[in-house]
Amino acid sequence: MNDNIYILGLESSCDDTSAAIVRNDVLLSNVTASQKVHEAYGGVVPELASRAHQENVVPVVDQALKQAGISKEQLSAVAFTLGPGLMGSLLVGVSFAKGFARSLNIPMIDVNHLQGHVMAHFIKEQENDTSSPPYPFLCLLVSGGNSQIVKVNAYNDMEVIGQTIDDAAGEAIDKCSKVMGLGYPGGPIIDKLARQGNPNAFQFSEPNIPGFDYSFSGLKTSFLYHLRDWVKDDPDFVEHHKEDLAASIEATIVKILMKKLRLAAKETGIKHIALAGGVSANNGLRNAFKEHAEKYGWTIYIPKFSYTTDNAAMIAVTGYYKYKDGDFCKIDKPPFSKITFK
Ligand code: KG4
Repeated sequence: MNDNIYILGLESSCDDTSAAIVRNDVLLSNVTASQKVHEAYGGVVPELASRAHQENVVPVVDQALKQAGISKEQLSAVAFTLGPGLMGSLLVGVSFAKGFARSLNIPMIDVNHLQGHVMAHFIKEQENDTSSPPYPFLCLLVSGGNSQIVKVNAYNDMEVIGQTIDDAAGEAIDKCSKVMGLGYPGGPIIDKLARQGNPNAFQFSEPNIPGFDYSFSGLKTSFLYHLRDWVKDDPDFVEHHKEDLAASIEATIVKILMKKLRLAAKETGIKHIALAGGVSANNGLRNAFKEHAEKYGWTIYIPKFSYTTDNAAMIAVTGYYKYKDGDFCKIDKPPFSKITFK
């Protein structure tokens, strides 16, 4: 008898259409169609994103099945991102996933996108992969829409102990990049420039927020005002200093993120610390994690680059755990756009 569980995962919360197949918690395929159409607008245009999802969803699922070497009839369930995200984008993936599951007469499993990012640490590339963190662990979840410190007690028991009260870290990086005229998305551009710059060249204001919470809107404004003054004196200021500006803004953001994470680790006594979300691709942040591991005796978990940004592998593996618990979704459960963990 074959007891293997095959899950198709689908992710369509923002501007990536992604499909993945896992056999139990082992990844067989992970196919993503990214949408270049937004680059010209300096940000994601929701209407265009939903149309692109509609075009991409069938070929991406087809490709994921082919690469996994299984037929759709072998699937045990379909897992999909229910939210949070852009409503038009979510509706495409959610409707497709429900229709697909119903046509195959298999269960549908809703997955919270943020839970998925944390669960990226449980994607196995081989059966004998033992790199997942033990429970409980802390996860710094940083993306374009979120900046949170999550205490992860179990795959289905995650407590947000700190979060941004305004902008997310990725949003701040993207906005700073935009005002410098560097392009979108700013994260990878700032990261690349920062590697050649001096992180102490410029100082920007840091927030003073109680507890484990974050704030990035003050930093964004401080950067904007400073830049305006500098450009008044030298119209080519950005061109002359872009590496140092990028390094200084990145260093400030990393400093803010790590300060609260250190505090959370100290107060909870938890030393297994993971990183997740799009901003976890940042080299400055990854280096800070490594330095903290050495200095504070943390065991750190840094995802592979391919699992940092939005991907369906994290949705499929979360779906696997929910499948084992029989935690299925009803066909009329609607997507949700607001940030929440439950
Ligand atoms: O998780 P994600 O793909 O989408 C959301 O769910 O938000 O995160 C996207 C964010 C963007 O703000 C992008 O600029 C940022 O992640 N990002 C980076 C890097 N790569 C992507 N930020 C800093 N350094 C990077 N290398």
